[in-house]
Amino acid sequence: MTPDVHGVPGAEFPFRLVLLVGFMASGKTSVGRRLAARLGWEFVDADAEVEARSGLSVEAIFRERGEEGFREIEGRVTADLLEGRRRVVASGGGWPAADPDRLYALPDEILSVWLRVPASVAVDRARREGRVRPLLDVEDPEESARELLGHRRSSYARARLHLDASKPSPDALASAIVEYLAAARRTRG
Ligand code: S3P
Repeated sequence: MTPDVHGVPGAEFPFRLVLLVGFMASGKTSVGRRLAARLGWEFVDADAEVEARSGLSVEAIFRERGEEGFREIEGRVTADLLEGRRRVVASGGGWPAADPDRLYALPDEILSVWLRVPASVAVDRARREGRVRPLLDVEDPEESARELLGHRRSSYARARLHLDASKPSPDALASAIVEYLAAARRTRG
């Protein structure tokens, strides 16, 4: 059963922030929203924040400034988001690999979680979601996804918690993270 994490007297999580990482369409936003609601924390999606702060869509940034320009904005915005507390952050899919030491360099009070999906699942979900992802907007998206995932896997694997996100629902994944947090509080809190 999922532990109730609300209103436990005197107990604070040893984490001030949860960072969700994983490939495009791995479910970071849907899991992040549910997790934040369960914890009573704020949810921030890094892509949405990039768009809000730059006044441009991710697609337009890629078009006008290239991937390099996007990574630069994404890096600044995400670093800023990671300063917060009682916050769940969904990173952009490429953020952990743009600088491979990023996840190692996180402070201990940030719990990083990798939502792991195979390329075929990601492409299928991305197609159904309908949001344009410039790196998958190519002739053979599955081939590109496989290649990208091959480059990125070892960066994602630096996250502290790994969850197979190919089958479980966003609610079930949020529950698994809540359980991990509750156990961490019992051990360390
Ligand atoms: C990207 C993932 C996207 C977005 C951009 C680049 C990537 O975010 O940041 O299109 O390089 O994997 P999602 O992971 O939310 O799709």
